[in-house]
Amino acid sequence: MMMLLPSFSLARTRPSRVGVLFLLVWLSICCSFLRGNEVPTIEGSKEGWKDEILKLQLELATVNTAGSGATTTSTGSESLVSAIRAKLAESVEQESDWMRKQFREIPRPNERLDNENVPNRDLRPGMPLWFLLETPQWWVTAKIVEILDVSEGRFRVNITAEDRIVQATRGETVRTVAINEFILGIWKSEYERDQGELARAQNKPEERFKRYQEAIKLDPKNPHPLDNMGLYYTDQGDVQQAIHWYEQSIQVQPDWYHTYYNYGNLLRDSYETAKQYTQWTALQLFEKAFQLNPLFLDTLWNVADQYHKAQRYNEECYAWRLLHTLNRNPHPKRKKNNTILWNPHWEQDLPRRIANCMQAMVMPNPTGTTDGNQQRQTTDEL
Ligand SMILES: *[C@@H]1O[C@H](CO)[C@@H](O)[C@H](O)[C@H]1NC(C)=O
Ligand SMILES: *[C@@H]1O[C@H](CO)[C@@H](O)[C@H](O)[C@H]1NC(C)=O
Repeated sequence: MMMLLPSFSLARTRPSRVGVLFLLVWLSICCSFLRGNEVPTIEGSKEGWKDEILKLQLELATVNTAGSGATTTSTGSESLVSAIRAKLAESVEQESDWMRKQFREIPRPNERLDNENVPNRDLRPGMPLWFLLETPQWWVTAKIVEILDVSEGRFRVNITAEDRIVQATRGETVRTVAINEFILGIWKSEYERDQGELARAQNKPEERFKRYQEAIKLDPKNPHPLDNMGLYYTDQGDVQQAIHWYEQSIQVQPDWYHTYYNYGNLLRDSYETAKQYTQWTALQLFEKAFQLNPLFLDTLWNVADQYHKAQRYNEECYAWRLLHTLNRNPHPKRKKNNTILWNPHWEQDLPRRIANCMQAMVMPNPTGTTDGNQQRQTTDEL
């Protein structure tokens, strides 16, 4: 690992309070380089880099506060600040890589396997398929519309929930449906659920409700329509019913992240009413969703926002920094130089939030004037 050296001589610095503070902070950074074996690696770490980032942020905030009181700016403090910043940026990069890798290794609930008993020459328009929606990493239903290339297994498909036609190749983002998934109603349940989503987009609440009901009847262990019932009652303003359905969804599949996310949104917006019906807090739910899928970034935004409200500013800063990096490369497989942002608005917005929480760490806003996070940035409720 590269050793960063201060550009000033410690021996000739006059011992002032600020100087001693710099020395202490500097030593602790130095020593973190020396603990070679303890530094978690992306390969081996169980914890990631969060603790390291929290420590560096605190050091940076402390140095900045000490520096702002000094009458003259010393080149020493500047190089110290830039050394901490560099180390912090590196740790955030490593944490992001660790998150991407961690997500790849999490077994996805309801991973769909291709039915190998169906050869390509038997593919026909109207056949049921699973289609992987990249962003939430979720297998939804689709049907073949037209075969384009038999030998490659390339066709045009209709994604049920979106009434959208796309090209797809078997084995990549689409899988044929296993016969038992069809017989057991697993695919048909998801198909009804997806039709319910379509009805929601078309603003047909009665049809939406009927489709979810049918989906639950076909496969009572499918967490998605249960989750969607929670969302349905949230839209109806019935907090107690919404909680009931979210709890059902978690019960049938505790490792499905998306229910925790939707449930968290409900508690964030209606906690006063909700708290009599639930043991959870919004922060706990968002943290759980994040742990199960760190790359659904709307969750991370909410985690940061909840830390802000709880005045846990160091963790808030950690979450915004991580979000800032992941926003530029959210996909586990995408190239580093990818320029498709998860949310383009965040690119401008996050540096301001990071600056605010860094300041709040050392000088919590005594008047508590602005919340700063009022503008809701997440829309993606599925
Ligand atoms: C796509 O599927 C939906 C749901 O089954 C259906 O309503 C829609 O008509 C289909 N669109 C096309 C172009 O086939
Ligand atoms: C960025 O990625 C694309 C393909 O993903 C590649 O063609 C291009 O050369 C890359 N650019 C740089 C600067 O690495």
